[in-house]
Amino acid sequence: MKKILVTGGSGYIGSHTCIELLNAGFDVIVVDDFSNSVAEAINRVEKITNKKITFHQVNLLDKKSLNNVFHQEENIHAVIHFAALKAVGESVAHPLEYYTNNITGSLNLFEVMKNHNVSNIVFSSSATVYGDPETTPIKENAKIQATNPYGHSKVMMEQILIDTNIAHQWGVVILRYFNPVGAHPSGKIGEDPEYPNNLLPFVSQVAAGIREQVTIFGDDYQTPDGTGIRDYIHVVDLARAHVKSIEKLNTSPKQTHIFNVGTGTGYSVKQIIETFRRISGKKIKTVIGPRRPGDIAECTADTSLANKELNWHAEFGLKEMIESAWKWQSTHPNGYKS
Ligand code: UD1
Repeated sequence: MKKILVTGGSGYIGSHTCIELLNAGFDVIVVDDFSNSVAEAINRVEKITNKKITFHQVNLLDKKSLNNVFHQEENIHAVIHFAALKAVGESVAHPLEYYTNNITGSLNLFEVMKNHNVSNIVFSSSATVYGDPETTPIKENAKIQATNPYGHSKVMMEQILIDTNIAHQWGVVILRYFNPVGAHPSGKIGEDPEYPNNLLPFVSQVAAGIREQVTIFGDDYQTPDGTGIRDYIHVVDLARAHVKSIEKLNTSPKQTHIFNVGTGTGYSVKQIIETFRRISGKKIKTVIGPRRPGDIAECTADTSLANKELNWHAEFGLKEMIESAWKWQSTHPNGYKS
């Protein structure tokens, strides 16, 4: 069985991806420092799949320990690299911390991979690299124009991988995620934010009575109902795109592939809240607030490249996204601490 090393494997997208990898028959090694996740996520993945994960608690800035992991494990087929800081606002306030974690951490990983002749990687990027796009749906060849340190760190890491492919013939798949939401249908793992920045976790906590109201960040955008439109993608669909990416690396020449991962369908903030009300049966109080600095009116993906080249299609719609988010939230009011 091929060994896949997953950095950030106990995080939200990482843990869902571990499930899909184990179900597809891969051996999974997780490297995580629990800076933004908990060990319980790994325990749950093992229970759901009835399979074991090899775990190493290592921060990517600790290159020596990372090197030991690669030394111990041997014959790693590919790396899926999730581990990174991801809050946009925080990145504006603490750029040096963000660049150190995201860039230095990634460079350490890539150097250790090179030293151990591991030359396949799937990298977790974001639609944030497109900034405020000129047109939607966005194609992969659209202009890159990130607008904050978090986004810049993603652009830089993409470039480092593109250059590494050219110099060392690595197989590289860069996945640009749109808006990942939802949870595993078992309801046993999900997103575990203490203070959510993103819309769906916030709405979930309001529906659960943990927070009083949702502030809609602006209702004067040039969209049909005036609120921002995003391309929400079920985290299980997103996780499966990583398994397809590993298959792509096995079957194609060593090159850099870049794919959008979304559904291609956009929903407004008001549509999301209304659907959440219907599915949860809960009251969700809203107030209209000012626009959030840096937000854009609309962001949806052209997914035709991933559909064709990865043979991947999003299978879940908004109903499944919100049902699963609510199942996780209502059974885990305090996340994994519940
Ligand atoms: C955000 C990040 C993006 C990151 C993505 C996934 C920003 C500016 N962008 O995208 O870089 O890749 O998360 O983690 O932070 N909204 C409200 N009220 C809220 C929260 C959000 O109205 O309390 C609105 C936003 O204005 C937006 C939509 O909901 O229109 C989605 O917001 P969010 O979930 O934060 O995702 P993005 O801003 O698209």
